[in-house]
Amino acid sequence: MNDGMPQPGGVRAEDLSNGTVLLTLESDDGKPFILAESCILALEREISILEGHDSLRGVLIHAEHKSIFCAGADIDAIATVTEREEALAITARGQQLFERFSALDAPVVALVHGTCVGGGLELALAADVRIISDDSKTMLGLPEVQLGILPGWGGTSRLPEIVGLKQALPMLLTGSSVRSRKAVAIGLAKAAVPREYLLREGVREIEHQQSARDAGHHGPGHTRKVGLMDYFIEGFAPIRNLILKMARKQVMRKAGRLYPAPHAIIDTLRNGFGKPLDVRLKLEREALATLVLGDVCRSLVSIFMRTRDKDRGKPYSEAPKTSGVNSVTVIGGGVMGSGIATLLLLKGKEVRIVDPFPEALGRAMKSITTELDGRVRRRHMDRRARERVLSALSLSTDFDGVRGADLIIEAVPEVPDIKRDALQQCAARLAPNALLTSNTSSLSLTTLEGHVKDPSRFAGLHFFNPAPRMPLIEIVPSGGTADSTTLRLIRFCKEIGKTPVLSTDSPAFIVNRLLAPYLVAAATLAMEGADIKSIDRVAKRFGLPMGPFALMDTVGLDIASHVCDYLSGFAELGIERPDLLGKMVDAGRLGRKSGRGFYDYSKKRKKLCTDTPGLPAETRAISDNVIKSRLLDALSDEARRIMDEGVVITADDLDLASIFGMGFPPYTAGIATWAGLQPSAETQPQEVIS
Ligand code: NAI
Repeated sequence: MNDGMPQPGGVRAEDLSNGTVLLTLESDDGKPFILAESCILALEREISILEGHDSLRGVLIHAEHKSIFCAGADIDAIATVTEREEALAITARGQQLFERFSALDAPVVALVHGTCVGGGLELALAADVRIISDDSKTMLGLPEVQLGILPGWGGTSRLPEIVGLKQALPMLLTGSSVRSRKAVAIGLAKAAVPREYLLREGVREIEHQQSARDAGHHGPGHTRKVGLMDYFIEGFAPIRNLILKMARKQVMRKAGRLYPAPHAIIDTLRNGFGKPLDVRLKLEREALATLVLGDVCRSLVSIFMRTRDKDRGKPYSEAPKTSGVNSVTVIGGGVMGSGIATLLLLKGKEVRIVDPFPEALGRAMKSITTELDGRVRRRHMDRRARERVLSALSLSTDFDGVRGADLIIEAVPEVPDIKRDALQQCAARLAPNALLTSNTSSLSLTTLEGHVKDPSRFAGLHFFNPAPRMPLIEIVPSGGTADSTTLRLIRFCKEIGKTPVLSTDSPAFIVNRLLAPYLVAAATLAMEGADIKSIDRVAKRFGLPMGPFALMDTVGLDIASHVCDYLSGFAELGIERPDLLGKMVDAGRLGRKSGRGFYDYSKKRKKLCTDTPGLPAETRAISDNVIKSRLLDALSDEARRIMDEGVVITADDLDLASIFGMGFPPYTAGIATWAGLQPSAETQPQEVIS
């Protein structure tokens, strides 16, 4: 015992009374506890002491961080593994640690408040019982698959044992987390209580477990109720194999064999089912060692690391600690305005929407409440939280209220005169330290800054649709934007959970510019007679979230056509609007929003239209390889030009923009890495920030 004195490495042990020991995962300087080397050492040391404790009655483990129980393993350590033996040794060490924790000669209860993921949940799974807080911050999950690996510290083996195969599969295969209510429902936790009662409930649980032991009832502390379905799945090999086969089919449908980790998880579960824990742990170790050295894991880990402030370098690492933005006014309550408002409300900001048309405000309100109601229905939010969020929203038809905003985001139609008018009205009322931004997707910020009084506090802030879900924001400083404004906007994006990427004020910025030649290539292929469905299939098989035609239908053919028209005004880009797009717009075939585009959306499943104007009467066999290289060459050629012109500061920024803005497949590590692009020696990146 260390008598409550903090130990290096972040684990504190204290004797509560009569042999119950409380382990606290410490948060050093407000940082969450992660299973880095020093913390693992500290846990090993405390467990050794507990193993030698001759009157141990129970162990409670909790964390002192306000919102994170444990953030999992140290991802930097994963990135440095280069040898299979090393990977096996690291995995074995974690497994042994949790094995010893689980084998302590007294009941062990994990008291979880906040995020408990990866190695953190594996630690909690090694306890006899988990009692969690009912707070909305409490989330339990094993997201390893998202880094291209599997939970290798016992999680792959223990989770199905605790919650059953049927519940464990989606958590393991998608890395999704569960909130407190679901965690209790599936048997992952025994109870959810208010945070302040966690300790009291933990002490009670120890007493309860001890009484059972005193009465001779050893065994697992908390077992779920096994339903009929679980009984059949787990008791009968053919049914179990069928479930695993269905899971494999789903994985194949989503991403084929591009990502090996979900397949390795299914194999590990199938080969280990019903075998002793040590055999299953060995399978986990072997699978993890293979995955961690693979290219896909390397790519996924590198993406994760490159989104962190400390690894992104200047100017991202220089952003202030806070943006100072609490209250935001969004001008225009249309598709983007209402999406941005929803996002900001969910992130705890005060939001006002200004739109001169009352019916537009009505639609914005409806769109926001629909999104919130969906969250309530899916139990991601309770009714009280919904009301609290809505109470931070106000709507107005006049501009006077913008005086109170720390940040204004203009999202009015992409029409220069309307933009000018809206920006002038905002600029006249801008509070002294407030920032003014435009969500324009194509207009020059340097031109727009002519409409504002103080360009130093003005910049482009380009969100993607749908704003609450799309992870990227392009920040576009205009000629007069002050560095301090750019840095505050970088911090603001991080505060609302987005990845910011800086772009120079050049046509269509980064993502739309990348997309335009790719969509033109797809349209040209179709006009040459390639089958639209085949083109979409080839793109999806490469790992893009949807094919180019499905994408155009989603964005809207009018918008896709407008972007092509706009970019065709810049001769150096060499983009021309394909006739196909114009003909579709003329025919009123605008995509999803009009019910028909390249596909028909009148039924539950979209169906390819057979009467698309602008296409040859007969399709022509064009091989998948030719389609693939035409589509991807268009993307990588444009990426090269973006790099050469210095539109982005680094290749990393282009990688992140391609992944988070257009869904370029993460296994590639991003388009710049995939295409082998480096900043050209002759061209210096333009000064986005000095
Ligand atoms: P929208 O047409 O859906 O909404 C525009 C809103 O502005 C309408 O509610 C309209 O009533 C309102 N409005 C019109 N005049 C106004 C004025 N003078 N003051 C205040 N509000 C006024 O347009 P959407 O799609 O939301 O686009 C807005 C901006 O966002 C555009 O600059 C667009 O280029 C950009 N953008 C659009 C994306 C998209 O996918 N729709 C993606 C990213 C950016």
